[in-house]
Amino acid sequence: ASAAGLNLSNIQGDILIGMRKNKELFVFFNITNATDFKIKLRSNILPLVTSTTQLLSTTSQPTTALNIAFSHAGFTALGITDNLGDPLFTAGQFAGATTLGDPGTVNWVPQFAGTTIHGVILFASDTVANVASAHSGLIAALSSCATELYSLQGAARPGAEQGHEHFGFLDGISNPAVQGFQTPLPGQAVVPPGEILVGETGDSGTRPAWAKDGSFLAFRQLKQLVPEFNKFLTDNPLPVPSLTAAQGSDLLGARMVGRWKSGAPVFLSPVVDNPTLGADPTQNNDFTYAAPGQTFSDPTDQTKCAFSAHIRKTRPRADLGLPENQTSIHHIVRAGIPYGPEVTTVESSASVTSVERGLAFVGYQSNIGNGFQFLQTAWANNPSFVHPNTGFDPIIGANAGLPRVVNGLDPTDPTHSFTMIDFVVSRGGEYFFSPPLSAIQHKLSA
Ligand code: HEM
Repeated sequence: ASAAGLNLSNIQGDILIGMRKNKELFVFFNITNATDFKIKLRSNILPLVTSTTQLLSTTSQPTTALNIAFSHAGFTALGITDNLGDPLFTAGQFAGATTLGDPGTVNWVPQFAGTTIHGVILFASDTVANVASAHSGLIAALSSCATELYSLQGAARPGAEQGHEHFGFLDGISNPAVQGFQTPLPGQAVVPPGEILVGETGDSGTRPAWAKDGSFLAFRQLKQLVPEFNKFLTDNPLPVPSLTAAQGSDLLGARMVGRWKSGAPVFLSPVVDNPTLGADPTQNNDFTYAAPGQTFSDPTDQTKCAFSAHIRKTRPRADLGLPENQTSIHHIVRAGIPYGPEVTTVESSASVTSVERGLAFVGYQSNIGNGFQFLQTAWANNPSFVHPNTGFDPIIGANAGLPRVVNGLDPTDPTHSFTMIDFVVSRGGEYFFSPPLSAIQHKLSA
């Protein structure tokens, strides 16, 4: 057990620290024979499930790490009737498509548009071949009791782009530290274990005992229109006098995200990128949006970072007042991975996407309504958050497919308003529960 008293060998590995592999395959399945599935869950799946302890170990790394999570429909299929205490999980993501800002389910992967997905298996490894072999082995073992409905192959981008999402920005910098488990880096949010793990200190929900140390997994397949995004930047360089047009375009992209492509926060490096800062984990998250020693940020000043910037919308820090763990319960642990190929020369010269690519988004929390859904709907999609006339989050803010107004991006003119299309298109997803290993062994299997 860790200092927080967490039983890390009972917590699936992806939840707190991510699988940390370059390839990850998501396999969405339907249970066709519950009795047989329960037997196979114990005999064939449980031995392959990777715990946090295993992922942290330098000596017990599996070739391919595996995690499994179930939708509400999946629990129903297994005869589990306990209420897990999360109404959004119970309803399923399909029921909430419009609430999330999607224009219905017109853009959804058909398999997500319904409640036939019973669960997802995550396979993570260094190579696609490893993942494929673990996948085919398990599919064969489960052929009598489950069918694969859909799969999505995630992969880190190649070469110097490794760790960067498809728009080009370094990702995976800022996740909350769980109190007592991780030592926070400067500027990292510190959350009670129960904000991420069900049944732990800080989780106010009513849960069945067997669910303790599980977590809700919000999955979204988010298509990114990279050539279109790049054209928008090229067409709208910010008119900062000291910058060339190309630099003004880079600044626009950085102010939309809140970080430069290197990861350097624009709040700390407001005019040009600073790759040394971006690469330094002791500095690249060490800011609050407020002046040193202040509890609140200045509600009139966007010169160093737009209020609408993606990382400011999804974690407002001192915009809500400090200390953050007393002003916000809205944190998630992100563990997504890019999917799809690099942009082709044909696509970049036409500025039009013709091959799908994007982010296989994974967010963990103990309460979807406080976590993923809150970030998406109450903050990113809300033009009045964090102040009136902030506009949408330019990266993920969704307006039912209609154009989005974003303000605060031009440091030379805060009244300069941008109207933009969706550069991120939701292809849907599902809500899952990633149970503790003890529940896989006892409650869910036979
Ligand atoms: C941070 C990109 C979807 C929530 C970031 C960062 C990038 C990024 C580049 C900065 C790296 C870091 O701080 O770790 C994207 C892209 C998305 C996407 C391209 C879609 C294709 C989402 C969604 C949510 C979300 C759907 C939640 C609803 C966050 C949060 C942070 C973050 C909470 C960290 C903020 C902080 O702690 O300062 N994202 N993101 N992102 N994103 Fe996203």
